[in-house]
Amino acid sequence: MNWERSGMEISGGLAGRVAMVTGGSRGIGAATAARLAAHGAVVGIGGRDLAAIDQVVARIRADGGRALPVPADATDSDSLEQAFRKLAEQSGPVELLAAFAGGNGAPRATKQVEPNEWRRVIDSNLTATFLTIRAALPAMLERGRGAIVTMSSSAGRQPGQAAAAYAVAKAGVAMLSKHLAAEMGPRGIRVNCLAPASVFNERMATAMTPEQLDALARAFPLGRLGQPDDIAAAAVFLLSNQASWITGVTLDISGGRIIS
Ligand SMILES: NC(=O)c1ccc[n+]([C@@H]2O[C@H](COP(=O)([O-])OP(=O)(O)OC[C@H]3O[C@@H](n4cnc5c(N)ncnc54)[C@H](OP(=O)(O)O)[C@@H]3O)[C@@H](O)[C@H]2O)c1
Repeated sequence: MNWERSGMEISGGLAGRVAMVTGGSRGIGAATAARLAAHGAVVGIGGRDLAAIDQVVARIRADGGRALPVPADATDSDSLEQAFRKLAEQSGPVELLAAFAGGNGAPRATKQVEPNEWRRVIDSNLTATFLTIRAALPAMLERGRGAIVTMSSSAGRQPGQAAAAYAVAKAGVAMLSKHLAAEMGPRGIRVNCLAPASVFNERMATAMTPEQLDALARAFPLGRLGQPDDIAAAAVFLLSNQASWITGVTLDISGGRIIS
C-alpha cells in the first residue's frame, strides 16, 4: 500500500527521498526497506547475499515501490563507498540511512572466545556501523540534512545471554549514535538508535523448536516475540520528518523486557 497516497500518512517527507538500508537483504532490514518504499522512498538494498538482495528488490517492485540492489560488505569501507556512489548515481543523494548490518549474538562463554572471534564480532557490528555512517556523511553534510538510524540490541542495554563481544559492540553502537547526534545536530543530521530484543528471524526459525520459541515469547511482558515489522515501524518514524526534533535517542523495542 502507498501510505502517503492513501491518506494514512505517518512518515512525513519520505516520498522521493533516497534511503540506504544495510542489512536490507533479510529480516529487520528487509522489512524496513519495504516500509520505506511503501512511503515513497527510493531504497538501496545492502547486504552480501546477492540472491537475497534481488528477492527483496523484486518484492518491493512488485508492490509498486522503488528499490535497487547495492551489495556491500559493511566491514569494508571501499565496498561501502562504492555502494553509496552507485545509489547516488542512479537515484540521487542519499539522505536517509538505516545502518542495520550485523549479528552474531549467540551465547558464548567469554573465556572460550579467541581474539580473532572477538575482533570479528566487534568489526561486523560496531566498526561496520562506523564505516557505514562514514560513507553516508559526505553527501548529508553537503546538503545540510540527513537522518540516520542505527542498530543496537537489548544485549547492549543490560547483561544477558548474548556473547560479550556482541553486547559490547551493540552498547558501542548506542554510544556512537549519541556522540554523532551531538556532533551532527548543528549540521542538520539526526542520529537515533534502535535496541530490539528477540525479533523472529531466519536463524531462530531453523535453530529453535516451536516449544523453545513459545517459552521465549512467554518471558516478555507483552507475551510474544518481536517481528521485523515492529522494528521497521520505529525505524521509518525516526527517519521521517515526523521525528524532526528527535535525535540521540536509543529506543528499546523489547515487548517490555527492557524498561529503563
Ligand atoms: N533478531 C533479533 O533478535 C535482533 C535483536 C537485536 C538486534 N538485532 C540486530 O538487528 C540487525 C538485523 O538483524 P536480523 O535479526 O534482521 O538478522 P538477519 O536476518 O540475520 O539479517 C542480518 C543482516 O545483516 C547483514 N549483514 C551482516 N553482516 C554483514 C556484513 N559484514 N556486510 C553486509 N551485510 C551484513 C546480512 O546480510 P547478508 O546475509 O546479505 O550478508 C543481513 O541482511 C543486526 O544488526 C542484529 O544484530 C537483531
